[in-house]
Amino acid sequence: MTRPLRIALIGTQFMGRAHSNAWRQVHAFFDSERIPELALVCGRDLAKTEAFARQWGWREAVADWREVVAREDIDAVDLSLPQHLQAEVAIAAAAHGKQIFCEKPMALNPDEAHAMSHAATQAGVVNAVNYNYRRAPAVALARQIIDEGRIGTIRHWRGAYLQDWLRDPGTPSGWKLQKQFAGSGPHGDLNSHSVDLARYLVGDIVEVSCHRRTFIGERPSVDDPAKRVPVDIDDASQLLVSFANGAMGSFEATRFATGNRNANQFEIYGSRGALRWHLEDLNRLEFYSDDDPPHLRGFRQILVTEPCHPYVGRWWPPGHVIGYEHTFVHSIADFLAAVAGQSAYRPDFEDGARVLEILDAARKADESSASVKLKPSGQG
Ligand SMILES: NC(=O)c1ccc[n+]([C@@H]2O[C@H](COP(=O)([O-])OP(=O)(O)OC[C@H]3O[C@@H](n4cnc5c(N)ncnc54)[C@H](O)[C@@H]3O)[C@@H](O)[C@H]2O)c1
Repeated sequence: MTRPLRIALIGTQFMGRAHSNAWRQVHAFFDSERIPELALVCGRDLAKTEAFARQWGWREAVADWREVVAREDIDAVDLSLPQHLQAEVAIAAAAHGKQIFCEKPMALNPDEAHAMSHAATQAGVVNAVNYNYRRAPAVALARQIIDEGRIGTIRHWRGAYLQDWLRDPGTPSGWKLQKQFAGSGPHGDLNSHSVDLARYLVGDIVEVSCHRRTFIGERPSVDDPAKRVPVDIDDASQLLVSFANGAMGSFEATRFATGNRNANQFEIYGSRGALRWHLEDLNRLEFYSDDDPPHLRGFRQILVTEPCHPYVGRWWPPGHVIGYEHTFVHSIADFLAAVAGQSAYRPDFEDGARVLEILDAARKADESSASVKLKPSGQG
């Protein structure tokens, strides 16, 4: 028996579009007891939000998120908002019993994140953080290969998330460059993706040291290009970490890596094998195995498009590659399964809060020029 799930989306730009596409597609490709109904979309400018609603098939548009979370004809909210708003909206939504799908990093800091987790747990609602790269089939296959013991004991994680869109000092300062709205720069925005992947693939992080830099201290205001505004977030961040299981790790996140547009990548080295992945070639997983005869050893490239690969059987025949937007469809398919009570959603708000704890410890490590230890938590 299927039942509708009435969705309200809050935020209508980059993620608003990616999520709208996923909500529209998911039911055609993934079976679920709950069928999303694109009921309501919320943005600050009503006329623009109405145009967005027409384009993406949302039934109604409103301009006030408080109205959204209080509406009785809404079952789930999708928060595609700047970081400074996510906690307030999520806590209000939980109080009204809404299921919550929330963009990453879920809040400005760990305290806000724990408050969100507490509110969602008290309300008994599904709480999901959209670290969507876990749901690239090649990344989910990497986890399967690790769980099967094929790379042995993990010794090294090397994560990097490299972009270059801030190289030009003339690039204006929007909300993503202001601490009060974003919390941090790539330290939180990009490293949070990598830390989530590392928790998912390697395990929990228990010690961290860190260096962050701001290369360009002021930029033109996005509202008035003649005005200069200070940049009070990092432009780049590097972490060295210890995992609870004894592995070591490094992370690099920057918006100044010339020529790298969205280069999210990792390498994992184990005692018997290794894995490498790069978002810009997301259907491919590189795998090295000591089980291969010595004369054939080397990194093989697995084209992760076989029906036996995670998520892939729902899409196209082998070799018919998928893309960035599919990771969002997978996140939302798993969210619908969680709402239907078929499986638990990970990463949940506790996982999202742990990512922020690790990044906050890294901030403190940078400020004190000393490594910071964390109390162990669990695998992501
Ligand atoms: N999962 C990913 O890979 C990924 C990628 C990009 C961004 N994000 C995250 O998604 C979130 C949104 O980022 P984005 O890139 O879409 O930003 P954006 O600037 O493109 O969109 C932000 C949206 O929030 C809306 N908004 C702001 N204040 C509002 C208010 N008071 N009421 C209603 N709407 C309001 C804006 O109008 C806009 O539509 C952030 O948390 C970001 O970190 C995640």
